[in-house]
Amino acid sequence: MSRDQFYVTTPIYYVNDIPHVGHAYTTLAADTLSRWHSLCGADTYFLTGTDEHGLKIEQAARAKGVSPQEHADRFSKPFRDLCGVIDAQNSDFIRTTEPRHQRVVQEMWKRMEEAGDIYLGEYAGWYSVSDEAYFTEEELVEGKAPTGSPVSWVVEKSYFFRLSKYTEPLLAHIEAHPQFIVPTSRANEIKRFVEQGLRDISISRTSFSWGVPVPNDKDHVTYVWVDALTNYISALGGANGELYERYWSSAHHIIGKDILRFHAVYWPCFLMSAGLPLPQQIIAHGWWTVEGEKMSKSKGNAIDPIKAVKAVGADAFRYFLLREIPFGSDGDFSQAALITRINSELANDYGNLLNRTLGMLKKYRSSILPAAVTPTSPLWGELESTLLSAVEKARVELCTAMDSYKFHEALRAIWTAVSAGNKYVDSAAPWTLAKAGEERASDLDRVLYSLVELLRVIGVWTLPFLPAKSQELLESIKVPQESWRFDSTTADSWGVLTGGETLASALSLFPRVEGPLELTRQAPVIAVETSAEETSAGETHTAEQTSTKKELKASKQKSSKQKSSGSSASSTIEFDDFMKCEIKVGCIRAAEAHPNADRLLKLSVDIGEEELRTVCAGIASAYQASELIGRRVALLANLKPRKIRGVLSQGMVLAAGEGELIRLIEVPDGPSIGEAIR
Ligand code: MSP
Repeated sequence: MSRDQFYVTTPIYYVNDIPHVGHAYTTLAADTLSRWHSLCGADTYFLTGTDEHGLKIEQAARAKGVSPQEHADRFSKPFRDLCGVIDAQNSDFIRTTEPRHQRVVQEMWKRMEEAGDIYLGEYAGWYSVSDEAYFTEEELVEGKAPTGSPVSWVVEKSYFFRLSKYTEPLLAHIEAHPQFIVPTSRANEIKRFVEQGLRDISISRTSFSWGVPVPNDKDHVTYVWVDALTNYISALGGANGELYERYWSSAHHIIGKDILRFHAVYWPCFLMSAGLPLPQQIIAHGWWTVEGEKMSKSKGNAIDPIKAVKAVGADAFRYFLLREIPFGSDGDFSQAALITRINSELANDYGNLLNRTLGMLKKYRSSILPAAVTPTSPLWGELESTLLSAVEKARVELCTAMDSYKFHEALRAIWTAVSAGNKYVDSAAPWTLAKAGEERASDLDRVLYSLVELLRVIGVWTLPFLPAKSQELLESIKVPQESWRFDSTTADSWGVLTGGETLASALSLFPRVEGPLELTRQAPVIAVETSAEETSAGETHTAEQTSTKKELKASKQKSSKQKSSGSSASSTIEFDDFMKCEIKVGCIRAAEAHPNADRLLKLSVDIGEEELRTVCAGIASAYQASELIGRRVALLANLKPRKIRGVLSQGMVLAAGEGELIRLIEVPDGPSIGEAIR
């Protein structure tokens, strides 16, 4: 039986930097897609690598006093290692300095030349070394490249590529293949650009030598983008290679939005000229900022994937990157958001389901899985039907989301199954069934089996996103490896586990994390308010000094807080005083920004009364309103109502921490809404 192929690539990374979260993100997205398609039965191939030629590299090497090759060797390795760090399973790693690549670049050149698309001319223009690009006078912004980098006037003999010839063919291809460039907003951007008419581009350089020599003209090296883009084919052995035959027609290029024009305009035109088919799709993702700021070397705020993985684990890091922002959009990496996602969605929601299931199975059935109960079994009940339809809905949503690269939607869909599982536990109340003894034993069996079967499905679905943890789960609940496939998770396949297996009695996949975490490559220089006693005017701070001062200040604040809490501890209260506080289990039904205060959210909390309570809470810097819906909280219910910035607040939700690190006190499943907390 022939299987569908799926070939996915990342851009090849420049060896003038070490990997940061942006690189990790592209590689991770490609890895997740590749794993997803494998799970769905495709024959996949996943390529990444490094881009090692060009003036930038030549200059960087010279500055360090090493040869460009030595420089490239040294800086390529961290990108190769990055795959291991984030658990990406690439099929190959291509380097543009490898002979296998250079051979194919020259072949590409010859094909384009034979098509009559290369001619010798003279190039004059404003050249930016760091962008590896020429700019016209009109394109300059205050005498610099649009990126802000310096430019110099360069006149050189150069080979040109007849890009202009491909304006119409490229437009026709984009029109005929609406999915060629995604998201659509990016496709429109490219269409508008091409419609203006393409101009021929210079594709060789004589001003430096660190590149692939132009065939039959030793004075020229190939322009870096002709060189770099060809990696997608050279890694497959060139246009005659076996791998090329097998995979090229299924090529999907994952790239950042910054390099869309090269991929969606130049590359297709080079391929058309060379008489080769175009890739299936070019998928552009957005850019990450860190704590609201652009990542930059000078700020020292680049998130280091190695540190991030050390701090929270590869799978939690993967989860956050894919769950936090829609793939095509820009987004912000904030430590508070990372911690919240891990603690509330992984440790809490997913962890609870797992712990309760394995815990109850151990307690009530010595960790032996009861016999399978499927929709056709007489024991199947209404609660199971509700659970299974939630699972089926999640499965469909997961597929739809993955078809359109909405990783965040895909994970959200899987998590609807997690919460359906938690709800199922609450409604089925296995602890009550256990109390009833023999009489309800088969009901208890059914509930325990259904929960483990749900874990199986979730374990399979999460394999592309959380590969190591999902594998650990599937092994712990004895899911045979041949059914680690997406098609084993349809409603019809409910009942893969037969029963009788002895499962792990406990499993902690995602421990809670506590901030602050050390995630950046170097300590950021943080501007702190300093008092006169801490520094004299005009003194400059190094990063280290500044953070030490900050820590000092924080510890001073902490100790003064401890002192004050110490003094209040001496004035103890009576038990009856405490009993005056009515703290109740509540559930947030609605949440929105407070109309008059950025720091506040306006919550509608259900505490089992006829009307929901409106509560103003100072948690807006730590939580998005949307993520709070359905969360169980502790509410001080008999606090005198008070108008806060124009909104009457009828109680107070309990929380700990400050600012971005504030956390709501969570109430576990079990006690019902409105129950007193003592
Ligand atoms: N060498 C070229 C690509 C040639 S592909 C034939 C290149 N390299 S790069 O190292 O500068 O960047 C590669 C990719 O890293 C970007 O396209 C983007 O995917 C990713 N990112 C770099 N910084 C990023 C962010 N801040 N956020 C998200 N991704 C970003 O361009």
